[in-house]
Parts: sequence; structure tokens; C-alpha cells
Amino acid sequence: LNYLVPAKREEILRILIKGLQRLEYRGYDSAGVAIDSSNNAEDSVSDIAIIKKRGKVKALEEEIAASTQSLDFDREFNCHIGIAHTRWATHGEPSACNSHPQRSDPNNEFVVIHNGIITNYKDIKTFLEKKGHVFESETDTETIAKLIKHIYDTKNEVNFRQLVEAVIQQLEGAFSLVFKSKHFPGECVATRRGSPLLIGVKTRYKLSADHFPVCYSKADHDHRPNLIPTTSEPQTSDKTNEKSKDARHSDKSTSNLALQRSDSTTEFQPIGPNREVEYFFASDASAIIEHTNQVIYLEDDDVAAVSEGALSIHRIKRSIDESTVREVITLKMEIQQIMKGSFSSFMQKEIFEQTESVVNTMRGRVNFETNEVVLGGIKDYMGEIKRCRRLLFIACGTSYHSAVATRQLLEELTELPVMVELASDFLDRSTPVFRDDVCFFISQSGETADTLMALRYCKGRGALIVGITNTVGSSICRESHCGVHINAGPEIGVASTKAYTSQFISLVMFGLMMSDDRLSMQQRRKEIIQGLQKLPEQIKEVLKTDEKIHSLSQELYQQKSLLVMGRGYNYATCLEGALKIKELTYMHSEGILAGELKHGPLALVDKAMPVIMIITRDNLYPKCMNALQQVKARHGQPVVICNEGDEETIRMAYKCLEVPLTVDCLQGIISVIPLQLVSYHIATLRNLDVDCPRNLAKSVTVE
Ligand code: G6P
Repeated sequence: LNYLVPAKREEILRILIKGLQRLEYRGYDSAGVAIDSSNNAEDSVSDIAIIKKRGKVKALEEEIAASTQSLDFDREFNCHIGIAHTRWATHGEPSACNSHPQRSDPNNEFVVIHNGIITNYKDIKTFLEKKGHVFESETDTETIAKLIKHIYDTKNEVNFRQLVEAVIQQLEGAFSLVFKSKHFPGECVATRRGSPLLIGVKTRYKLSADHFPVCYSKADHDHRPNLIPTTSEPQTSDKTNEKSKDARHSDKSTSNLALQRSDSTTEFQPIGPNREVEYFFASDASAIIEHTNQVIYLEDDDVAAVSEGALSIHRIKRSIDESTVREVITLKMEIQQIMKGSFSSFMQKEIFEQTESVVNTMRGRVNFETNEVVLGGIKDYMGEIKRCRRLLFIACGTSYHSAVATRQLLEELTELPVMVELASDFLDRSTPVFRDDVCFFISQSGETADTLMALRYCKGRGALIVGITNTVGSSICRESHCGVHINAGPEIGVASTKAYTSQFISLVMFGLMMSDDRLSMQQRRKEIIQGLQKLPEQIKEVLKTDEKIHSLSQELYQQKSLLVMGRGYNYATCLEGALKIKELTYMHSEGILAGELKHGPLALVDKAMPVIMIITRDNLYPKCMNALQQVKARHGQPVVICNEGDEETIRMAYKCLEVPLTVDCLQGIISVIPLQLVSYHIATLRNLDVDCPRNLAKSVTVE
């Protein structure tokens, strides 16, 4: 949103497209923009142009460039609101029609972009169809655009923000939304529940206040107006849904939408002197960091409105204990961190960055002289953690693997029962959780819906919540009692690499902190801390073998399957390696526990089946060698990841990738890197887009 800084349409579109490109890792099956089309926003009505295209943002950019006939790129705007979206399909296949912005009607009176899922959209759609609305897409989002128009058409004297407040009272599920309307030129309203949304504020000056006030409506919207009769059951027992469930049940007496004026004198708090200000609404900071580092994170059910250059944040109702201000945060993120530099892809850059990211994870936390480890974000809670009944580690995807990788060490160092859980399954089972449990939620993005729902589930049962994330200000960060920021730096490649090794190290540091007062463990702690110190150098050594890994990948890239086997500390590496291979190369790949080989997977092995085995010099070495023999006896030709100079293993292998030896419990940090590189090279050899694998998204904010 641009205020009183005249800008050409071309420039406005450039900013929107650039923002989308920065967010593309969140979804990339189609993209779209909405901008003012003919009139200026100073007019009372301003037509809106929508341009949408299936495929990546590049395709949209080309479509826009080809629109010179319909759009005058040189036209200048004193004030302009543009919205743009890149999609990861949930409802409806990827197509221009299903992509966002979605519109209320063929005149584009209201347009909206949405991140999340509306679970009661069918009820709303049925209601609106009965009222004569004709739907053009298969999306849940279109119901939102049509609902706001319906409310606008039926109610008088309500402002844009009040319309949005009325809309979100009807919605169930997760959303972050940004609205634009031809009836409210120069205005924009955004809101969220369950999906992330932040506001970047660009002024010529640093904002004087650290906090931004929240306005509460005078009207008491105690009841959710019963506009849409609902038949669907709440999806989960999460806080958000319970809230709407309660509202629905307490609502029987209200039969009509009762929009009430909620103006209050404190409503619009101008931000920025002389209205020389630009606002950016975005799902995450990478979209806006090149414009501003001053951001405000919105909370669930906040409604942020910009009108006449002033931003205000509203809530319908104030609940006990809730904060009445939103912090203005100055981000430390640098633009270079989200650029590829000389690398061909973000993933390649992030693999090679691991020599530094592991250092950043340990910086200021591990004292290699005194063997002390202090995680500032949880140190005040250590007493409580040490007294707990058990530790639960809950996550999805790669983050889950980091918990699998460290489970054995954490059991050893904490002497507590350790449960490692996939967030979706943990919720599906309604797993019992107790007040004296400590629950860790590991998430690179800090926004993964399954993990966030599991967090709320455990929090509601009184457990201590520890967040381990890579994203400052993320939902998991904000909703945890305490936590660790892994400091890996922004990770853009959809397949997680450097976040995994940093999560791994963070969990190891936690184990070391838990055992700092155990005399019997001091020798082991020392050995691990020395191992941590050597890691950056050892990672550098592994990265030097990139050329060899590339040659090996040339041998593998036309295969259909790839099995990855190991056991003990190496098992998580097999799971993570196989996940990388399937995510990026679309080959079938399985991480196999070598101990289970004879109970089934061995049936897959013959001379044609490519097998990678991880056999390093830990206490399970003899057992791993047995597995190697079993594979060879079936004419398998295993490529073995082994320790440098381990002649005995090298002799037995078809091919070898040698990696430096470290302490058993840290070996996974080193051994995973050749697998990251194998998957990267195979994907590149197959001409695939390594940063944006098909059907996937980096941050999965839907359940
Ligand atoms: C998605 C990503 C994975 C990631 C997982 C968990 O599936 O594609 O790379 O591991 O989500 O994400 P989180 O941000 O919670 O670590």
C-alpha cells in the first residue's frame, strides 16, 4: 500500500511481483494480482483489474508484461493498494480461475487473497447460492469474496473494516486474508486466524513507538451472528475452533446478521508523520525485507485496516489477560540472506552454508573451554524441565527427523522417557498429555499447522511448551512458554537442509544443558562438546567431495528407486536422506532400519536395486556389516557412506562416500550432507526445479 509517494503502475506491479517471488517457496502452482485499473483512488469508486495465471510467478510476470494494451504502465498513483498471491492448491486444481485474488462478482467489487482453509465454506456457499450468487471457481476462498459483497449489499453505513469483522465471524478454519474493494478506494483490510500475517511499515523515520495500540469496538459482539446455518462439525479440538464452536452454540437466539457500528474515538491511530508511509501485508518477512525491517505481527482475529494513510488494528472484543498493544519489531534479517548469490539454487546455497549455520546455532551458547552450554531462551525453565515426567518432541517432515536423530542421546543425557511424535498422528490419536510433561515443538517455519495445533492441544492440557524454530515472530515462537531459536538464517529451498543440522545441534545442546550437573556424564559431555567444535571443519571436508557425489549421481539419476539403510544413530539420516530424494527427484525412496532388513525390505534387493548404506564406526558397526553382507549375498551393489580411511568397509562396498569420523551421536550431522547433495544432483540431472519441487510447499499452514 503506497501513500502519498507517487508511483507508476509499472513500479507498483514490480513491487508486487518481487514480493511474490520472495514468497514463492510457500506455494507455486498459480499466481495473481489485483490493482486499481482505471480511476485513481482519490475517486469515490475505483475499478479493479485482476490478472491471474497458472504456473509460477514468472508466468504471471510474463502475462502482465503482455498486458500493455489494457494497462497503462506509466499511469501514476498518489495512493494505491495492490494485492498479490501465489498459491498452493487445497480446494480446486491449479488454474487461473482457482488462483487468487478471488472476486465477489464480474465487476470485481470486492477482491480477496487467502492463505489457509475455510472448513465451513460449503455451508456459506450453499447460503450464498440461494441468495443468487454464481460461483466461478472451486475454491473455498471465493465464498469469502462473495460473502463480503452480500453483507455490503444488505447493510448500510458500515465501513470496510466492519464488513471484514462481520465476515470473519462467519468463518471457521484457518485464514490470513487481505481485502481490496472498488467501493473503498485507497483502503485495505487484513485479518488472520491460524495462518501467519505481518505488517511491514516503511517510513522515512524509525517509528517512535515500540508498541502499536489495539482498538476495541464499542459494540459488544458477544454472539456470533447466525448468518450461515452450520452443519459441519469442528475439525479439531484446537483453541480457535473451540471458540467458534462456543459462539455457535451460544447463538441460538440471534437469527439475523446484526452488524453494529463499532466506531470508537481511538479507532484510527495514524502511524508515520505526514502520512508518508507505505504498508506491506505479507505472510512472512522475506517478502518485505527489502522495503522495511519494521514489522508488526498480527494475532488471531486482529483486523488491521488502512484508511487515509493511517493504520489501525482492531479486535471485536477484549478477553481477559490479552495484550492491548502489538509490538513493533525491528528485524535483523538482511536482504543478502534471501538471495541466491553465486549459487544456482537456494537449496545448493543452503547446503553449502552449513559450515556457517552450525556455528551460528552454537554461537554464545557453547563454551568450548569450560564445557558449559547455556540456551538463554530456556534457562529459566530448566528446574521445571528437570522435574518433568517425560519429554515429548513433536514435529513434521524434516523437523521430525531431527527429533528421531537425537532421541537416543536425549534419553542417555536426561535419563527421562523421550517420546518422538509426528504432529498429525499425535493429534489423530488424542495422545494423553499431562501437566508435568514438557512438550517440544520443532519447526523451521514456526507455522506448520499440524505442529501448531499439537502445541495448542498440549498447552490446553497444562504441559510446558518449548518451541524450537528458525523464524523469529512465528506463531510457534509466540505461543510457546520458552524456546530456542536455531539461528540457521532464512531457509528458502522447499526441501529443508541447513535447518535440519541446526535443529539437530539445538537438541544436542539441550541434552548437554540437562546433564551439566551429572558427574557421571561429564566425560561424555566433554567428548560431545569437542565434537561440536570440530563440526564446521568436518562439514567443509564433506562438501569438498561434491564432485565425487555428482559423478555418483550420474550413475543413479535414471533409476526408479533408491533405498537408504542404516541403524542406531544413523537411522534418522536414512529417513531424512530418503525424504530429500523423494521430495526433490520424485524417485521412490525409502529409509530402512537395517535391523529390520531381514523382516521384509530384503525382498526388494537384487542386482538392479540401487542401495545406499550408512556404516560408520560406532558400536553398531558389526551389525551394520552383517546387513551389508546380506545385501551383497542378494547381488546388491551398495554404495556405502563410511568413515574416512575405513579400509575394511571400503573393500566390501560397490562404491564409497567417505566422511570424517565424529562422536557417534553427532555422526548424523556429517553423514546427512552427502545425501542432501545426492538428492540435489539427481534432481538437477533430471532437469527438475530443486527449490520448488512439484506439489510441495515450504510452509504448510493447513492441516
Ligand atoms: C513441509 C516442508 C518440509 C518441512 C515440513 C515441516 O513439508 O516441505 O521441508 O520439513 O513442512 O516444516 P516446519 O517448518 O514445521 O519445519
